[in-house]
Amino acid sequence: MKTYDRAILGAFNETLSSRQPKASAEIGVFDSGLGGLSVLRALQVAMPTANFLYLADSAFAPYGERQSDEVARRSVHITEFLIASGAAGVVVACNTATAAAIVALRARWPLLPLVGVEPGLKPAVAASRNGRIGVMATPATLASKRFEQLREAQSQGSFVLRMPCPGLADLIEQGDLDAPSLIDAVQHFCEPLRRAEVDTVVLGCTHYPLVAHHIQAALGEHVQLIDTADAVARHAAQQFGSAHEDAAATASVTLLTTGNAAQRCALETVAGLYLPMAARAQQTDLNHGAVHATDRAA
Ligand code: DGL
Repeated sequence: MKTYDRAILGAFNETLSSRQPKASAEIGVFDSGLGGLSVLRALQVAMPTANFLYLADSAFAPYGERQSDEVARRSVHITEFLIASGAAGVVVACNTATAAAIVALRARWPLLPLVGVEPGLKPAVAASRNGRIGVMATPATLASKRFEQLREAQSQGSFVLRMPCPGLADLIEQGDLDAPSLIDAVQHFCEPLRRAEVDTVVLGCTHYPLVAHHIQAALGEHVQLIDTADAVARHAAQQFGSAHEDAAATASVTLLTTGNAAQRCALETVAGLYLPMAARAQQTDLNHGAVHATDRAA
């Protein structure tokens, strides 16, 4: 076992077994940008006393239009940063990064509690009445071997229309979730799904739940949208054990972005709209190691 892994396991077990310190173990969460906030919200509900360290990698976004090995290398770098910053477990709140990197992350940190997200084909198959399903996701997710394996294993004969949405995550990253150009793009990507008469659509990118109201309006009320954030959060709560269950602990969320000042503002604004707990965001270049408690916004 690598020394690094021992240290992680030690830190996690210490929090699991002891009543002290009062703070729960910190859980690192990352995405290419704002999208992972849709997962973070569900995590906060599932683990109300946990401390979260959320990293929006806006400087490197969009992941969905990059090569898989680039996203994998970046995901390793970010996970190293989160661990060095005190994370005792990590949620990869990004379908694209999960497809590209979860195997490599598990191989590198076999003892680290690690949870990824992937398009919810299984619940979509269960929910569909006409056996016609659409999957909205990034080009990289839909082109990945992992997605093909998921489709083969879980579609059970249903018709599955892949709908890559290049540029949509980028528009959401601007932070104005009601911008006319964003609504136009949503309508554009929903049109082939309407024509294909799917009755269930998987939101296979964590950015898309932030504009679910526009997607629903474009597809019509009869179409069911599938977002797996709640299921992922319940799974994460089991994975992270009782580390988050100290009733005396004070929950916290720290928001970091690798992006510029405008991206920092967008993160703070959308987090303010979307999360149950307000938080300030700070910029990081990932090169200055750990984030210290005193650097954190309350
Ligand atoms: N939020 C990410 C996902 O779930 C990707 C967005 C991007 O392309 O950066 O796939």
